[in-house]
Amino acid sequence: MQLANAMSRLGTESAFEVLARAKRLQAQGKDIVNLGIGSPDFRTPEHIVEAGCKALRDGAHFYTPAKGTPELRQAVVEETQRLRGVTIDPEQVLIVPGGKPTMAFAISMFGEPGAEILYPNPGFPIYESMIRFSGATPVPMRLSEENGFSFSADSVLAKITPRTRLLIVNTPANPTGGVVPRAELDKLAKGLEAHPHVAVLSDEIYGRMLYDGEEHVSLLSYPAIAERVIVLDGWSKTYSMTGWRLGYGLWPKAIVADAERLQINVNSCASAPVQWAGVAALNGPQEPVHAMMKAFDERRKAIVKGLNEIPGFSCVMPKGAFYAFPNVTGTGMKSKELEKRLLEQAGVAILSGTAFGQFGEGYLRFSYAASLEHIQEALRRVAECLQPA
Ligand SMILES: Cc1ncc(COP(=O)(O)O)c(C=O)c1O
Repeated sequence: MQLANAMSRLGTESAFEVLARAKRLQAQGKDIVNLGIGSPDFRTPEHIVEAGCKALRDGAHFYTPAKGTPELRQAVVEETQRLRGVTIDPEQVLIVPGGKPTMAFAISMFGEPGAEILYPNPGFPIYESMIRFSGATPVPMRLSEENGFSFSADSVLAKITPRTRLLIVNTPANPTGGVVPRAELDKLAKGLEAHPHVAVLSDEIYGRMLYDGEEHVSLLSYPAIAERVIVLDGWSKTYSMTGWRLGYGLWPKAIVADAERLQINVNSCASAPVQWAGVAALNGPQEPVHAMMKAFDERRKAIVKGLNEIPGFSCVMPKGAFYAFPNVTGTGMKSKELEKRLLEQAGVAILSGTAFGQFGEGYLRFSYAASLEHIQEALRRVAECLQPA
């Protein structure tokens, strides 16, 4: 068999590999605390589960329109108004199976040999993987701790060339929990006016997972560039629905038909009963989301405090999502080596910062999508494992 060359350029998300390794160790009887996973540990709220079951019982067994059901697209229009303060046309909404398809579609639509795509590093690993797969050149935008794991708009704008096709922004961010301040987004949007050939993919999947009164600012809310902004969002994180596979893209009118064509080629449509669960999530009570965020906030404070007590670690307070990203250079060890040692010797599954790009060296990602008890146990084991002999 001879695979296409592009396959040699396709990367992966090592969270899934670490998860598999942790499961293997568990099967051998090892006691593993898993803080590697990017999935909230809460059950999907009951009224959402019920809506999905009811839809199945009521006969939602068939294809829906490729873009999604009118009811779900309308619910997304209203959510966009609430969360982003932007009025969009339901025709701009493309419902897809999870957050990733919008990413894959946008990168495939703009990426080809000779094109450049700017992406956050450290950042969600699939950006770089899909850019390379498309044949385009990935141009990293370094997110540094000194910048609160955000970027300076000037440094991003300075990387734009005539070959730049797409700029990927993720706020709040995985793996750092960083949030790009409004002032920086203002500057970025203003600067992009001088580069009308650059489209933007704004990954806002953690847009409702913010702490300390932080506000969510969407690049779609800047009218001067809105016609070139694609928004990625979905139900996975906010409603603890990672296994249901439901997401949406908000697409510029000029290219929504192209994205729909990709959907028809790849998925036909998102799952019909799952779309009804999605309607219940957006239109139903939001208390379960608030309760989950309250629990995350408590854990966030506990994990950051605990990480800062470990010799060689220092951790800034994340402002969004559910990850802590401690600087571990003080241990004198490489991130990957620490990832391996903590899993094998301490039974704690976490991810090396390098799973998120070369600029993740010197960091580890701890997901706090686990009970406080598990978090405390993990911290205890890490501290013990790294104790000087
Ligand atoms: C920044 C970011 N974007 C997109 C996704 C993909 O979400 P989904 O699981 O819904 O495909 C994730 C998942 O971890 C993520 O962290």
